[in-house]
Parts: sequence; structure tokens; C-alpha cells
Amino acid sequence: MTKGSRADDLMRFSVAMPESLLMEFDQLVARRGLAKNRSEVVRDLVREALVESRTSLPGTVVMGTLTIVYNHHSPDLQNKLHMIQHDYCDSIVSTMHVHVNEHTCLEVVVIRGVSELVQAVANMILGTKGVKNGKLVLATVEG
Ligand code: NI
Repeated sequence: MTKGSRADDLMRFSVAMPESLLMEFDQLVARRGLAKNRSEVVRDLVREALVESRTSLPGTVVMGTLTIVYNHHSPDLQNKLHMIQHDYCDSIVSTMHVHVNEHTCLEVVVIRGVSELVQAVANMILGTKGVKNGKLVLATVEG
């Protein structure tokens, strides 16, 4: 902060980057819609990077949202997923199950705890044989 400025005042700085990268960045800005300009998209990306950096620090309390997709006909898969969730019932806040079609299920598992535990539980679920794909999103809950 410079003298006389407030924490949320907008500060200008210039950024140098290769033209090809800037052109791709402008395409990203365009995809984010008419209400967005370069500055807003840079701010969004910086905020995302800061959240990612904070939530990956061991010991940081986070909320994780894990989304997985699986075929419920996979042998023993539902039972294994159920067992993991009971083993970590103190960390797993909620599970939503969606029957997508005849074969496919989607589950959203909300996990609370320190970053390394949330990631470990998510990796256990993601690594269970038969889980087709999934993604963990971490959110900070402090500050
Ligand atoms: Ni289902």
C-alpha cells in the first residue's frame, strides 16, 4: 500500500507478455462474457491462484467439494465408496447422489478438515477402481 491509499483502491501496474500469449488471453476474456475486461479477468485469476495456494498449505482448514462419476454396475464399487465415507464420517459433511442414467451415478461429497486430510480422503475415493472421473475443489473458510 502506498501512502494515502486504502487496501481496496485499484492500483495500476503494467504487464509484459508475448503477443501470442496476450492474444490467447484476450480470447479467454471474450469467453468470460461482455461484462469482463482484461483487468477483471486478471483479478479473477489472481484470486483463484491465491485460494489454490492457501488451500494447499498443510494445516489449513478447508472445505472440499469432490464430484465423482461412476458406473454403479462396477463390482463392489458402491460398497467400497460407502465404506470410505463411513471410515471418515467425522470429515464427510454431506453426500449427494444423482442417478444420471441407467448405468451412471454422480456423487458430490463435501469434506471438511485440514487440507492434507481432505486431499487424502478425496484421493482414496478418486482412486477406487471403477470411479471414471472426478475433481476436488477446495475452498478456504478462514479470513
Ligand atoms: Ni445412482
